[in-house]
Amino acid sequence: MVIEKICCLGAGYVGGPTCSVIALKCPDITVTVCDKSEDRIKQWNSDKLPIYEPGLDDVVKTCRGRNLFFSTDIAKGIQEADLIFISVNTPTKIVGNGKGRAADLKYVESAARMIADLATSNKIVVEKSTVPVKAAEIIMKILRANTKPGVDYQILSNPEFLAEGTAIVDLIEADRVLIGGEETPEGQKAIQELCWVYEHWIPAKNILTTNTWSSELSKLAANAFLAQRISSINSLTAVCEATGADVAEVAKAVGRDSRIGPKFLEASIGFGGSCFQKDILNLIYLSECLHLPEVAAYWQQVLSLNEFQKTRFTRKVIESLFNTVTDKNIAILGFSFKKNTGDTRESPAIHVSKTLLDEGAKLHIYDPKVEPEQIYYELTGTYVKTEHENIKKCVEIHDTAYSAVTGAHAIVLCTEWDEFKELNFNKIYEVMMKPAYLFDGRKILDHEALQRIGFHVQTIGKRLARTGSIRAQGSLTMP
Ligand code: NAI
Repeated sequence: MVIEKICCLGAGYVGGPTCSVIALKCPDITVTVCDKSEDRIKQWNSDKLPIYEPGLDDVVKTCRGRNLFFSTDIAKGIQEADLIFISVNTPTKIVGNGKGRAADLKYVESAARMIADLATSNKIVVEKSTVPVKAAEIIMKILRANTKPGVDYQILSNPEFLAEGTAIVDLIEADRVLIGGEETPEGQKAIQELCWVYEHWIPAKNILTTNTWSSELSKLAANAFLAQRISSINSLTAVCEATGADVAEVAKAVGRDSRIGPKFLEASIGFGGSCFQKDILNLIYLSECLHLPEVAAYWQQVLSLNEFQKTRFTRKVIESLFNTVTDKNIAILGFSFKKNTGDTRESPAIHVSKTLLDEGAKLHIYDPKVEPEQIYYELTGTYVKTEHENIKKCVEIHDTAYSAVTGAHAIVLCTEWDEFKELNFNKIYEVMMKPAYLFDGRKILDHEALQRIGFHVQTIGKRLARTGSIRAQGSLTMP
């Protein structure tokens, strides 16, 4: 079979960008991205896309209406496609068996059932969502138990390794593409057909093929390893602060070892995002089910350390502000879980904000890409308007960083947006309450320069020498 038409179920952070890049690089393939959410599809078909990713607008503008379509007509999408990506969400279960740890596969299952109901010709079904090992078996069972005459299915695993904020570059210049399938001749043929799609732009040597279970486990393992590096460096920040070592210098020295490498060694208030915690919980649950408590405990510690880091940072903020933040104005700079995305899922800013609110603070939040409604949702856990009205008594969302910091007792920087490095901190110092505190949770600012202006600065993994005099030490020029 030559793949002429692709359908993707799920127009989210993965389905949208991935299929946009496939459409860009494969003009001979028609790609339709389907979602059950009318709102989401409407946004994909508008000028304001539902997600922010550098470079995404241009790719969508080039392909939309040419060989890239966004639609709620799932039946048509499935029936016409030769290959179907399942790219639906796989959140952590919140009720029932394995709640709080196991992946909830209800959306994957419902996608498989839709395909079983609607398909009238042979399909290659590709699991792109991140799933526990052996999830492809569920899809296989559903499809093969419902096979109609003349319809045959091949199921592949093709996990996505993109990172939000750099999704387009990650997709175009992927380190590797991983495709797992059955070790039968039909399975191998399906693998080759998906390889052909990627070979439009990915060098064949960078396309790895494995069995289905290795492919599924590799995705969980990759995220667990990445998160483990962050927790490892973060674990040393408290040691640095206590001893006078500087975690940036330690990370540089450690990362120069070619066996370790320099990436993903930046200390911070902790990792966030929709994947790391969920996928590690998934791995922990899998290990427990396999009666491997030592393995489960090992990965649990990566998550525990992350919680410790978020709590430690917030505690430092409160303690520095004379152990009370009641009725104090605190400016939160950045709310997304990392720069260059508007995604707030599991963002450390949520933990910081909620703790400060519990302590009675008034928050003034600014983020360049997160919509106010999303911030209210994260802080209340609901889209109910009356709840939002309640929280607005102590949370104000601002259009600029300057507006957020005016009258603030402290600034808490939670996301490493580049624009924060360009702020005029002389101007900011003037409009803040004194003493003016600044907590840099991402280590992106020039702390010595801030101290020269007069700020009381705290950061992560480095003990800063106190600056006694305010505005007494010469040059105050900040970028
Ligand atoms: P998302 O929540 O942004 O999007 C999922 C979409 O699927 C939603 O729009 C939802 O309405 C839709 N959906 C659910 N059931 C459906 C159905 N039966 N038919 C049609 N649409 C349906 O999720 P996101 O972030 O795109 O993640 C998708 C998967 O990819 C997850 O398994 C995630 O772990 C994985 N992943 C996510 C990455 C990320 O950075 N967000 C990176 C790599 C993998």
